[in-house]
Amino acid sequence: MPDTTQHAIKQELVDAIRMLERAEYIDHNGHCSARRDASSFYINSGASVRGTLTVEDIVAVDLDGRPVDGSNVKPPLEFPIHAEVYRARPKVNAVFHTHPQWSTYLTMTGVQQKVVYAQAEIDQLAAYIASLGAGPNIPTEAQYGPEGADIAKGGELFRTNCAQCHNFTGKGGALTHGKFAPTLEDVDPKHIYEAMQTGPQNMPSFPDTTLSEQNKKDIIAYLDAVNGDDTESPGGLELGGLGPVSEGLFAWVFGLGALIAVAVWVAARTAKAKKS
Ligand code: HEC
Repeated sequence: MPDTTQHAIKQELVDAIRMLERAEYIDHNGHCSARRDASSFYINSGASVRGTLTVEDIVAVDLDGRPVDGSNVKPPLEFPIHAEVYRARPKVNAVFHTHPQWSTYLTMTGVQQKVVYAQAEIDQLAAYIASLGAGPNIPTEAQYGPEGADIAKGGELFRTNCAQCHNFTGKGGALTHGKFAPTLEDVDPKHIYEAMQTGPQNMPSFPDTTLSEQNKKDIIAYLDAVNGDDTESPGGLELGGLGPVSEGLFAWVFGLGALIAVAVWVAARTAKAKKS
């Protein structure tokens, strides 16, 4: 590259940094770079003052941070952020690391920020994990859909394999050591299938050799039948769907309560009858 072009690139970089500084997009520690060739780039030196930057503050370094134009000006400490992007992405011609003040403010709120991934990134992560080794594929609708499922069989399988942790109709429950099995209400059929295949955290996994594809389909259909939007409670009152504990408590309090009340009433009337 002839010198004039090099100077022009440096000048453009200076202009860009100063404009960003004016607009408060970059703070006094931010750094921006422009590619010089396949193995070197221009970057503002670590000591430069962003607001009064000139081309003299721009240093050309190779991908290991060594000056390539004979100067001994140092790149900023964070030059590897730029170098690795240039190394990995030959098409990238500029990298801006601006230290935007908003992200600094957000880190000062003490509020845990939620990590947000775009669907494309989730797909890329999934593809990457899948490339690491053999594992079950993401189930298809034919596997978890309701067609051909036997709800009664699913209920039986659920009570044998899952109810000890998730409760009789999947309302969830406490486990040892403060762990708990979550409710399965409103969980996506695909997600239920994947949970059985992979066994998250304390949950055992149920590969096809333990619960066949058909078994899994049946369980999912059962959960939909007992927890779906239009599920009715045959007894009228659902009692939390927590099984014998809440139902037993209900029977004790109301059933036995009524019997005791009747006994007291009868005894009171008998005593009265004797007196007269
Ligand atoms: C030994 C106890 C145990 C058994 C048995 C068990 N699970 Fe779980 N299950 C758990 C725990 C604990 C979690 C929560 C894991 C986590 O937090 O990552 C869980 C999570 C799940 C989830 C994910 C829920 C969500 O909202 O993300 C589904 C779905 C599930 N289980 C379905 C089942 C099915 C279906 C069965 C039977 C085939 C079953 N589980 C058997 C303990 C169990």
